[in-house]
Amino acid sequence: MNKLFAANWKMHKTSSEARQTAADLVGLVSGRLKPGREVMILPPFTALTPVAESLRGAKNFLLGAQNFYPQKQGAFTGEISPAMLRDLGVTFALTGHSERRHVLGETSAQVGSKTAFGLSSGLGVILCVGEKIDERKAGRVEAVLEHQLREGVREVPRDVDPERLCIAYEPVWAIGTGEVAGPEEILEAHAFVRRMLVDIFGASASRMRILYGGSVKPDNAAEIIALDNVDGVLVGGASLKAEDFSRIVLA
Ligand code: 13P
Repeated sequence: MNKLFAANWKMHKTSSEARQTAADLVGLVSGRLKPGREVMILPPFTALTPVAESLRGAKNFLLGAQNFYPQKQGAFTGEISPAMLRDLGVTFALTGHSERRHVLGETSAQVGSKTAFGLSSGLGVILCVGEKIDERKAGRVEAVLEHQLREGVREVPRDVDPERLCIAYEPVWAIGTGEVAGPEEILEAHAFVRRMLVDIFGASASRMRILYGGSVKPDNAAEIIALDNVDGVLVGGASLKAEDFSRIVLA
């Protein structure tokens, strides 16, 4: 099970900026990546092709997408299907990112439909879960994670290839705030997610990757990635500069 270092560029970068940043990253990382690690870039839809071109031939680099619509095709103005993404070389996509839940209003049930549809369409899925600060203060972390996880995988076949389903624990209060969760908080949440996954999927859950996301930076990445049940990181702000993200990937 390779550790996954994923760069979520959110709504940043024109296609030419994205092409350059991806090429710079490949230049900085190639030949220096530790064994058992892989790197994924998730640019905006408009930059998927230029990033794919920059990654061509680069070993252990993957292309991901930030979103998709859970239908094969049809009258869904403005939406993008899994088949369209796969055609561009995308192998994984996010579901349930906190910005889609809390800014765009996606419900856990919608996240569940997307997760199942993406997997059945041949994409790998990174299902994001995480509590808001008021939920943490109210002692509801496990209740929130359990709800988001169970709803998120409700329609996923129990014999799904475990390598194609990742969970990202991203506490909402740590996203884009500079406030990283402490090691104890990460350990507890990740152990809980693992127990839930084992409860739902059985033994194969030991091969599902659990990523941490929320203010991961070059100076905290090594400590986070070494924690039990942390199988990778999902990085926003610090993934936008090739130099910063290369230091995370090589940490
Ligand atoms: P930041 O790394 O900017 O906190 O964002 C985390 C995130 O949302 C990744 O998906």
